[in-house]
Amino acid sequence: MIRTYRSDDWDQLKMDVRVPHRVLEPVEREIAVVDEALTVLHEAGVLPHTKYDHAKMLAHRAAVRESFEIPWTAISPRMQRLLYAINAIVEPQNLIAAGVFCGNTFISNAGAAVGPGACYTARNLIGVEIKPEEAERAERNVRRIDPTGVARIIAADAVDVVDEFQEPIGLLYLDADGAGGRGKGVYLDIVEAGYDRMPEGSIVLAHNSVNSAESLRFYLEFVRDPGRFRASVNVILDPEGLEVSVK
Ligand SMILES: C[S@@+](CC[C@H](N)C(=O)[O-])C[C@H]1O[C@@H](n2cnc3c(N)ncnc32)[C@H](O)[C@@H]1O
Repeated sequence: MIRTYRSDDWDQLKMDVRVPHRVLEPVEREIAVVDEALTVLHEAGVLPHTKYDHAKMLAHRAAVRESFEIPWTAISPRMQRLLYAINAIVEPQNLIAAGVFCGNTFISNAGAAVGPGACYTARNLIGVEIKPEEAERAERNVRRIDPTGVARIIAADAVDVVDEFQEPIGLLYLDADGAGGRGKGVYLDIVEAGYDRMPEGSIVLAHNSVNSAESLRFYLEFVRDPGRFRASVNVILDPEGLEVSVK
């Protein structure tokens, strides 16, 4: 059985990818939908609890709005809140985010540990982007929020970075679209590269579980195999979706 959380209005949440900060709904509704998703993740055994600091989340959002250059992004405000909340709850010491483009997806995760939304201290928060010019922009954006360098961008192929990372990986965020003709199928290469350094309780987040479900089918089979991941839930709160898996 495929586990799913689906909000009743997931397909009506239309964002303009070039206007990332446009308010799409009252914040109370956004919080309620994300809370429902967190509750399903908790009940599935993916998350230890559902509590996170709402004021810090909004401080994080304001800092991104004020300081990030974002030419476009498909991360809806709901998805931004969900990513922040999962990281705030799991508190990964080491995070690797694969395919970060201008850094908005990355900081939605890393912002739980750096900048005005920080609610814990991490060791390494690494965003990986294969296009050097995009990696440079992402690094510029991230430096404006995190002067410490704990959060940083590497210009490289995420498969190699994950493969060579020596410490346990607490959270892996997947959003690469597979430069070189690999497409979203590259998610499977990345998770396989890091699987042996993912301890019990570590989390993998895969963006586009809805609108790229077909090209992600082998990846989704992998994380939904109970022999490999303890639980996996498809969180459908916008037209893109997020598969959340716990090892
Ligand atoms: C679709 S974008 C992610 C944007 C994000 N969903 C958003 O809405 O802000 C995917 C990014 O992955 C990068 N990418 C593709 N293959 C990669 C790889 N193997 N390693 C690292 N980055 C990669 C691309 O250059 C691109 O910037």
